[in-house]
Amino acid sequence: MEELVAIVVDGRSLAVSKSTIVLQALRDHGIDIPALCYYPALEAYGSCGLCMVEVEIRGNAIWKPRHACLLEVEDGLQIKTATPRLQRLRAWAAQILLRDRPFHNSEAEGLLLKLVQDKTADGQVLSGSTTEGCILCGLCIRMCRKIGKNRLTFLGRGKNLRIGLVPGAGNKASCGNCCACRNICPTGFISPDAEHAFKARLYKE
Ligand code: SF4
Ligand code: SF4
Ligand code: FES
Repeated sequence: MEELVAIVVDGRSLAVSKSTIVLQALRDHGIDIPALCYYPALEAYGSCGLCMVEVEIRGNAIWKPRHACLLEVEDGLQIKTATPRLQRLRAWAAQILLRDRPFHNSEAEGLLLKLVQDKTADGQVLSGSTTEGCILCGLCIRMCRKIGKNRLTFLGRGKNLRIGLVPGAGNKASCGNCCACRNICPTGFISPDAEHAFKARLYKE
């Protein structure tokens, strides 16, 4: 039988499955917090920075921000999902992600703009990305790995960090364009297909 633990979210006690990720436990109970780099069937990566919650450390009334997608539930865990500090943290994260505009997916862009408005000191949207349209969330890499193709990877570093096809002779052949990566991409970067997106715009031999 499924083992349950009790957590407290915004003052409300919830019974959740042991070993569940906090973000998933919140979603299972209809509590929605922003998250662009999480997908239940894939290992969490914690890159978008939007899913922050505050948790109480060992019941000592000290609250610390944590990534809900990287945190496992434990019995008695106290969580806050909507505080001024979290609004600021999410707004800063959104501000950074918006440097990668424009996005094909206007829904993702709208979510980020909404998070930024009035919650950052300057309300500004930054610019200057080298990966226009891609927020480097890594979902495409994780999905491609999950389906056993493993054709995508991070390339470069620092400002040159980008997603590309795994270097090697295999790149000369088609990856098959199964669309799994395109379907999971939150910004719509992989359009019309993976090979077009990564070879034409990011991949360099
Ligand atoms: S389209 Fe190609 S790169 Fe994308 S998930 Fe499928 S095999 Fe991987
Ligand atoms: S191409 Fe899409 S899924 Fe892949 S890292 Fe960029 S935004 Fe994420
Ligand atoms: S969903 Fe947690 S950091 Fe992106």
